[in-house]
Amino acid sequence: MQEQAVNPPSEPNKPGSQELLLESSVNLKPFNTFGLPATAHCLVRIREAADVRRVVDHPKLGRAPKFILGGGSNIVLTKDIEAVVLKMEIPGLRLLEERDDAWIIEAGAGVSWHALVQWSVEAGYPGLENMALIPGTVGASPVQNIGAYGLELKDRLDSVEVVDLTTGRTVLLPASVCQFGYRDSVFKQTGPGGLAGKCVITRVRLALPKPWRPVLGYLELERKMAETGISQPTSRQIFDWVCQIRRAKLPDPAVIGNAGSFFKNPVVTLEQCRDIIGRDPGIVHYPMPDGAIKLAAGWMIDACGWKGKTVGGAGVYEKQALVLVNRGEARGAEVVTLARAIQESVYGRFGIRLESEPVML
Ligand code: EPU
Repeated sequence: MQEQAVNPPSEPNKPGSQELLLESSVNLKPFNTFGLPATAHCLVRIREAADVRRVVDHPKLGRAPKFILGGGSNIVLTKDIEAVVLKMEIPGLRLLEERDDAWIIEAGAGVSWHALVQWSVEAGYPGLENMALIPGTVGASPVQNIGAYGLELKDRLDSVEVVDLTTGRTVLLPASVCQFGYRDSVFKQTGPGGLAGKCVITRVRLALPKPWRPVLGYLELERKMAETGISQPTSRQIFDWVCQIRRAKLPDPAVIGNAGSFFKNPVVTLEQCRDIIGRDPGIVHYPMPDGAIKLAAGWMIDACGWKGKTVGGAGVYEKQALVLVNRGEARGAEVVTLARAIQESVYGRFGIRLESEPVML
């Protein structure tokens, strides 16, 4: 087994050598990509798995409700957070193992997802390039099974290291138990068997298949191939194309507050789709392997006339109607009001209930 440490792994915990980094009354505006105002009563910076165990063993924090904060790119803060906020900052990027059939790489939960993609492509471990520039942290990536341009996290996930929030034990969960679906996983589920609120993801291992094969076929990538005349792009070429495509139509959260796609693309039956096409022949839709049809929510919101609209401090992005943005000093409640108004008009016209992707708090 080959091991290559890129960022020096954090110091192994010596008992009593490190105290928990506790902060009170923390302004969360810089910690959510929408830039919404809210305060965390208590925030703990998690720099290694042992910090989660320290929280579990802590006389006051151990039993308190917890909220896990990654890059804050998938939340809408409508109020202050009473739960103890665990701010994930576990570092580390490394090649864990090189097998005949795959490179196994590992990243700490606090690493930015895009930093992982960029590092892996540059270090010669291709396979994540289609998911370049997705906002958020590595630890959040399995929760909603992030995806873009024909690839989802589940296609590359090997296993997830978690710390149990009751026992403080570390467990390595193979991808097969993560119950991945479209923007869904066991980490989101609250019912029996669900792991929402029960554990903290501390590290993620990805298996990048060898030999590398490009994932093409997505319309915008095909367009790039036609434009450039490159029919056999490298991983780096696809990475650059995906960055260009995303930058052209998605707002940079560092400039305009947003949480990426605000709604999931709804999945309907063939009959429902035929019915909608009968009334709206232009609707963008994609057949799924199981016979169901995925409808482009962005197209429907656009068709309802929302693109570029503003309500209070919240708005619908001019170049992609699926993305809600902070026009300035938006409050969470304004984002929620706008989202509800969009849901109502899409329901009124298409009979489809759009489900929001970010978590409303
Ligand atoms: N469209 C419109 N008007 C709009 C927006 C979209 O007509 O305002 C049409 C587009 O022309 C296209 C179709 O709707 O024909 C789909 O749009 P696009 O290709 O931009 O993809 P999407 O379905 O809106 C999904 C993901 C994105 C991911 C892209 C590319 C979801 C909820 N969103 O968006 O993920 O980057 O595909 O694979 O599945 C995210 O989750 O935050 C995200 C950005």
